[in-house]
Amino acid sequence: MARSSASTLLSFRRTLALIGLAFAVAGCSPQQSALHPAGEDAEALARLFWIMTIGAAVVWLIVMGATIVAILGRIQIKDERFADRLVLIGGAAFPTVTLALLLIVGLSLLPDWSNDEPADLRVRVSAEQFWWRFTHEGPDGPLETANELHLPVGQVAEFEIVSPDVIHSFWIPALGGKLDAIPGRTNYLRLRPTKPGIYRGVCAEFCGPSHALMAFQVVVHDADGYAEWLAQEAQPARAGGGAEFIAAGCGACHTVRGVVDAGAAGPDLTHFAARRSFAADTLPITADNLERWIEAPAHAKPGAQMPPFPLLPEADRAAIVAFLLELT
Ligand code: CUA
Repeated sequence: MARSSASTLLSFRRTLALIGLAFAVAGCSPQQSALHPAGEDAEALARLFWIMTIGAAVVWLIVMGATIVAILGRIQIKDERFADRLVLIGGAAFPTVTLALLLIVGLSLLPDWSNDEPADLRVRVSAEQFWWRFTHEGPDGPLETANELHLPVGQVAEFEIVSPDVIHSFWIPALGGKLDAIPGRTNYLRLRPTKPGIYRGVCAEFCGPSHALMAFQVVVHDADGYAEWLAQEAQPARAGGGAEFIAAGCGACHTVRGVVDAGAAGPDLTHFAARRSFAADTLPITADNLERWIEAPAHAKPGAQMPPFPLLPEADRAAIVAFLLELT
């Protein structure tokens, strides 16, 4: 008997520890959390979430309290008029008013479609299997990057969201709501970041075997930082060489401005080494990871469209990796 109560206590403690851990894990990733808002829309959504959660908890407590009172049967309502009123107010008037208020708050959060004021900047977002092509407005024309979106704080960015293959969904939880990328049409989404920082965006629509490996970094700069980043990004590649990269045919799919300018199927690698990760925020940029990636991209990312290069001589692969690591 004693042993069974001790084991019950142990499993209760374990459950508590697990719940605590779940909260800790949920709380320590503000980079990708709609509950740590860093944008205007996300702030409104988080506010609605807390209003609904706290409101639902209060209603739940009242209903549970009334149920317990009814089960215990200690309070007997003798006045029939009072009982009728209680049912009418608690069962009809209160839910009607509460749901109507929630509807009004919800409708007020919808985007203002009649707003035809131009946005402060535009970014074209092309969701591909399984990575993100971002085209920023550079000082001398469009600037393409991959899996890393840069935005200035406090400005309204309008995203033109497209997809060349299947339906994906563009979502930066810390900045606002999500919107689908649908082949054959362009969807528009406006977001205004309110806090500088680094956030994480994801694909929120199942799009194939590496759907969960299709993320991106979002860097929100102050105004000067954004202008500096654009100016740096507009520069051609700094690395010299690249002979092995060209000889292996990498230039058929990848552009490295100033070295090989034709490839458009895969990510633009002009400033590859300045990014925070590669393979759509799946792997840190290290020589080992790059060597393994070139040898067999599908090992890290099933369904990736980049072909494997298992027969590439080791010296060539090492030279290509060294070249990529110089592309700051
Ligand atoms: Cu792209 Cu899921």
